[in-house]
Amino acid sequence: MNDTAPKMTGPELDIDKVRSDFPILQRTVHGKPLVYFDTAASAQRPLPVIEAVDNFYRNHNANIHRGVHTLSQEATDHHEQARAKVAGFINAPSDQEIVFTRGATESINLVAYSFLRPRLQPGDEILITWMEHHSNIVPWQFLCEETGASLKVVPMNQRGELEMDALADMLTERVKLLGVVQVSNALGTVNPVAEICAMARKKEIPVLVDGAQATPHQAVDVQALGCDFYCFSGHKMYGPTGIGVLWGRYEHLQAMTPYQGGGEMIRHVTFEKSEFNDAPGKFEAGTPNIAGAIGLGAAVDYLQGLGMDKVAAWEARLLAYGTERLAQVEGFRMIGTAANKAGVMSFVLGDIHANDVGTLVDLHGVAIRTGHHCAMPVVQYFGLPATARASLGIYNTMEEIDTLAEALEKTNAMF
Ligand code: ALA
Repeated sequence: MNDTAPKMTGPELDIDKVRSDFPILQRTVHGKPLVYFDTAASAQRPLPVIEAVDNFYRNHNANIHRGVHTLSQEATDHHEQARAKVAGFINAPSDQEIVFTRGATESINLVAYSFLRPRLQPGDEILITWMEHHSNIVPWQFLCEETGASLKVVPMNQRGELEMDALADMLTERVKLLGVVQVSNALGTVNPVAEICAMARKKEIPVLVDGAQATPHQAVDVQALGCDFYCFSGHKMYGPTGIGVLWGRYEHLQAMTPYQGGGEMIRHVTFEKSEFNDAPGKFEAGTPNIAGAIGLGAAVDYLQGLGMDKVAAWEARLLAYGTERLAQVEGFRMIGTAANKAGVMSFVLGDIHANDVGTLVDLHGVAIRTGHHCAMPVVQYFGLPATARASLGIYNTMEEIDTLAEALEKTNAMF
């Protein structure tokens, strides 16, 4: 490891213990130890998450909220305990404000259809930012097409930071919702979401925060943020795929129409009319991803056991080292240099196409993502077809950053 690596001054993760919790890190790729730098796309799973899912299927599997038999009661208890864990993780005032979805994408679509669509008129505006993931762009485009509302986009600067003066000017009475990402998956920018929510609240504009890239990396407190909706995915925070969360203020959730019809979301059904459950049940039609919710609860326990302060400190240290070490590689240019960044290093390497970079470093066992990262407007803004992206997780090390740097140097040598 290069001795320029910043020294830790606060509490530290036991990185060897953390790595031993992730069985997949034992495997090799192309004969080399796996170096996993694609956590922003999907994190790896620690044993407690794998075991929680396994234990559910082995010992407690049954449908929930539907049975008087023991297994159904146990499954229901485990599922609802997971809801309480998630509520605690983001400091939600109530478990009843936690809606389980398939992921952040479904959470945003749910808000689009159940909250915003009934409130939109032609001429209204939906405000988002230039650095949104497609999941915080496309659902709003659907609504604009249906209703005659317009989508407005807050610009960013060359470092990948939001233009806050422009944001202030764009928060007009026409805006019916502001959607903003807390941590950009393509740039790593950490947006000043509490400040943005305060600005919007003065104008009584509801704010939806896409927290998919925030929850794995930093402590989140939805009450301190002051948002109206907060969305995230299980698989990016070391939990299972196919499970995610919508947190919403209870008065909003209660006022919203159901998103899908079916079992579980009803209180009473006749052929003439149905009455719906209170939130969160009315948004959870059909048999949910029970094992996924339980696995997510285990991921919450795991992260809280490590301590989000230690997670954030370790990743900040990795990012500082990575930013300095990779800059030494010829032709390396970081895309996204915001003053406040999380563990995402998007880059280009000379004029080598990002896909070639990704393919060649994979030969050294290093997994990075290449392309537009489901945020095409970001790469378009920088005039690029694609970037390569190394994204950090709790299991990464300084030595792995050295391995990436060496793999990039070898890649350079091939062109
Ligand atoms: N949104 C995911 C990413 O950033 C898939 O890679």
